[in-house]
Amino acid sequence: MGRMRILVIGSGGREHALVHALNGNAGEAGAGEHELHVAPGNAGIAGLATQHALDVTDGDAAVSLAKEIAADLVVIGPEQPLVAGVADALREAGIAVFGPSKAAAALEGSKAFAKDVMAAAGVRTADARQVTDAADVAAALDEFGPNYVVKDDGLAGGKGVVVTQDRAAAQEHAEAVLAAGNPVLFESFLEGPEVSLFCLVDGETVVPLLPAQDHKRAYDNDEGPNTGGMGAYTPLPWLPEDGVRRIVDEVVAPVAAEMVRRGTPYSGLLYAGLAWGADGPSVVEFNARFGDPETQAVLALLETPLAEVLHATATGTLHELEPLDWRHGYAVTVVLAAEGYPASPHKGDEITAQGTLLNDPSHVLHAGTSSEGAGYVSAGGRVLNIIGTGASLEEAVSAAYETIEQIDLAGSFYRRDIARPAIDGEISVGR
Ligand code: GLY
Repeated sequence: MGRMRILVIGSGGREHALVHALNGNAGEAGAGEHELHVAPGNAGIAGLATQHALDVTDGDAAVSLAKEIAADLVVIGPEQPLVAGVADALREAGIAVFGPSKAAAALEGSKAFAKDVMAAAGVRTADARQVTDAADVAAALDEFGPNYVVKDDGLAGGKGVVVTQDRAAAQEHAEAVLAAGNPVLFESFLEGPEVSLFCLVDGETVVPLLPAQDHKRAYDNDEGPNTGGMGAYTPLPWLPEDGVRRIVDEVVAPVAAEMVRRGTPYSGLLYAGLAWGADGPSVVEFNARFGDPETQAVLALLETPLAEVLHATATGTLHELEPLDWRHGYAVTVVLAAEGYPASPHKGDEITAQGTLLNDPSHVLHAGTSSEGAGYVSAGGRVLNIIGTGASLEEAVSAAYETIEQIDLAGSFYRRDIARPAIDGEISVGR
């Protein structure tokens, strides 16, 4: 494959993890094999890749930038450009791109579309009903009962889903979604621990990465509001041995085949968000891109060069790729969040740490930071993602918490129980 010029689109912790892995996990700019560019990136990624300004949902602008730098591969991180058709614009211009077409990204962009595909593919998922008129909300709440699962049908950056026992809160969310002009989806609540399985998909070829689990609530013991994700760990010691194979066979491969049948084959990363219930995996949602913050943990264990993997997917040669190599052991990511996250994160506060820690992407990835002088300030709700690895899950967790304690950001907080239920053996599944 040789040296490539690679452009990564996006600006969060996930994109920092992608750029670090594309750099061969080398830690220093230029130490990897490839020439790396990012648009728009963030202050941490700027240490590893040349930064470019870009409106990420503007396909023409992405094509111009990719041509200007003669990119051999463009990797699209977030969902907004995918749903806006940026991958289509790049493909039409003859540029290799990692990320699905607009039509295929609708698996994330429209929850109603995803339900239709799953029904056609025979994939287990929650019962759902779409409502577009506020007068129908009360009847839908009666039909599904608590736990109420109320979703914005469009993209909402992980914040469009409310799961609650409180009927008034469920009703308020449904009305807010409708008032914003989007349909609202009511679903039955799926029992069982959640699994995030990221799969490389190229037509009908499916290659799973390691399974991970996210922690979505803001505070310990799964209390507080839903967030974009407060931490994650991988792999899952409690998942049945054939768990990944079952998710591929029962969920991802049938959906990939259905997308081919519809004439809109999927190419990129398909993220299956599942609940492992009494009958095995059921789909909570699909995403059309790497998950954040699970990716930060998953890529910490990937030994196969990421550039090869993404290039094979983008060029329709995934079936030729050797099986992926993984480091033994576990990886954990813990999110350092700004004061007030998720409702109203405080920004512009100085971040300090011992030594060069803030510039060490093997331990600290930047999610929402800006440069100020020689240092960094907070610039988003999820500010940093701390990585820990180890032979056991407990070691990986301890490593992450030792690192996070060396970082100061006034008012910031983090969950202290990432992976704790798994370590304590509190998660069990039927089969
Ligand atoms: N981990 C949640 C998400 O990426 O949507």
